[in-house]
Amino acid sequence: MCGIVGYIGSRTAYPILIKGLQRLEYRGYDSAGIALLDNNNVNVYKCKGKVRDLEQLTNGNPIGGTIGIGHTRWATHGIPNDVNAHPHTSMNGKFVVVHNGIIENFAHLRNELISRGYSFKSETDTEVLACLIENIYTSTNVSAETAVRIALTKVVGAYGLVVICTTEPNKLIAARKGSPLVIGMGHGEYFIASDATPIVEYTDQMVYLNDGEIAILTNDNLNITNLNDERKDPNVTTVDINIDNIDKGDYEHYMLKEIHEQPISLSDTFRGRINPDLKQINLGGITEVLPRISNAKRIIIVACGTSYHAGLVGEYLFEEYARIPVEVEYASEFRYRNPIINAGDVIIAISQSGETADTLAAIRMAKEQGALILGICNVAGSSIPRETHAGIYTHAGPEIGVASTKAFTAQVMVLTMMAFLIGKKRNIISTEKYEEMISNMLKVPQSIEALMKNEAHIREIAHLYKDATNAIYLGRGYLYPVALEGALKLKEISYIHAEGYPAAEMKHGPIALIDQNMPVFVLATKDKYYEKIVNNIQEVKARRGQVIAIVSEGDETIRKMADHVIEVPNIDEALMPLIAVVPLQIISYYVAVMRGCNVDQPRNLAKSVTVE
Ligand code: AGP
Repeated sequence: MCGIVGYIGSRTAYPILIKGLQRLEYRGYDSAGIALLDNNNVNVYKCKGKVRDLEQLTNGNPIGGTIGIGHTRWATHGIPNDVNAHPHTSMNGKFVVVHNGIIENFAHLRNELISRGYSFKSETDTEVLACLIENIYTSTNVSAETAVRIALTKVVGAYGLVVICTTEPNKLIAARKGSPLVIGMGHGEYFIASDATPIVEYTDQMVYLNDGEIAILTNDNLNITNLNDERKDPNVTTVDINIDNIDKGDYEHYMLKEIHEQPISLSDTFRGRINPDLKQINLGGITEVLPRISNAKRIIIVACGTSYHAGLVGEYLFEEYARIPVEVEYASEFRYRNPIINAGDVIIAISQSGETADTLAAIRMAKEQGALILGICNVAGSSIPRETHAGIYTHAGPEIGVASTKAFTAQVMVLTMMAFLIGKKRNIISTEKYEEMISNMLKVPQSIEALMKNEAHIREIAHLYKDATNAIYLGRGYLYPVALEGALKLKEISYIHAEGYPAAEMKHGPIALIDQNMPVFVLATKDKYYEKIVNNIQEVKARRGQVIAIVSEGDETIRKMADHVIEVPNIDEALMPLIAVVPLQIISYYVAVMRGCNVDQPRNLAKSVTVE
């Protein structure tokens, strides 16, 4: 996700901003920029690339001034390039803005501003916001902070932003809704950033802005109000952050951080897309092609690895809730086997990176044959989204660990929203069922939070099996793809050979593998297959296999027969993949750590397979 830094005080801002952006690099980004206010002149430097490229850009140019803002961009609207990099300047140069978040109604605001004579250089929602603030400022002759406040009442979406007004150059204006901002309280100086890491070396006195708050920072004063201009007393806290391991927060590895982020990343995935009050799903990225999807003769999902497993969950969802035939294909096979593709087909490419060569090639081939091409990707502006007709970004934030975790659950969440939206549109599911499932989807983040309390227990189980040489994962129905995903997680970071199977397949061969040395992870939560999966567990136990079962909270039946159980909160079986995968992610993480493996960069693997 994007990173923001700002400074106002008596020191030269440039080195503080650059170092602050370097501290935020761990968040993942594709471009960087700064704006410096020097004697009422604002100098803006920004480029695609890394902070070091930004420093190159400033070489030999004016970098004076004691007020400034900086930004690392993780693209959501508009591809990564120099023009789309932040800071963004309003058309008449009065406002300079850095922003983290998504303005959902930016297209509407942009059209309104165009009708008022505004033009835009970039594709971003942030430039629209800068121009909106300026238009209010110049047309109503209010203060800069009032113009910001009024503009934000017109915005739908999430933001963390810091604003410079060139005609009121003695202040920084910050606002927060959904994307965090923290203010560091210095002596005669203030720091502001997306998190405390760029600030802790200057002060440990912090004020965390709350949603709906606006902060006006001058050299010697901090004034916080809400959007109604009602004053709020700053709540100053003392933070204790070890500067040495800030890149991953308090986590030893990105993978563990990203596993723990899933309640937040899933909330980001459905933010602005599920209206909890109206109980409606709105997927803006596919609105224009929704009729074609609803009338599809067939959906073909193409993907690789973990994204392929998410696609398999999508197959169960679409066929049950939208009654549209679905095929899920490994992109690498699909692209070469001369498949039959009809104009009425809808191809969905699922890819975290948006750069996987096989998936990109598969959609190019399908596009040539007239199919509608959709994308479900996590990196805005990456190659696959740029080649699809429409799509939905997963908004999981940068996933840095090579083993995909939060991207998988975000992909499944998007597929779930799509299946219910299309199923409702096709009148396959009733309004009551639709609203019930939406309510259940909103409970997923808290369910994951709850099961995280079992982490120590899960770590103990991981310790018992860290020296295994093989493992089997079993699941049925929606949980069969989760069995495949669990096996992939274990094998790719701990290098233990692991296979996932539909549980009923065991008697067609794999059960020959079962002995007292074989750990068998069974996804056995309460669903329509429960009695059958209990039988599968008994079959494994009868051959002395070790059974580790993921069960619904309060399940006493399987507790009596399995060697270990991990309880997860009950939820509708269609949503259980989002929950049941998390213990398997945690097990694979701790097994790999205990085996001394490089968890974030496993051997032979890359985060994005951009070659065949
Ligand atoms: C998953 O943990 C692996 N990193 C890998 O299987 C990955 O899912 C696959 O390479 C597809 O990547 P993509 O989602 O970026 O297309």
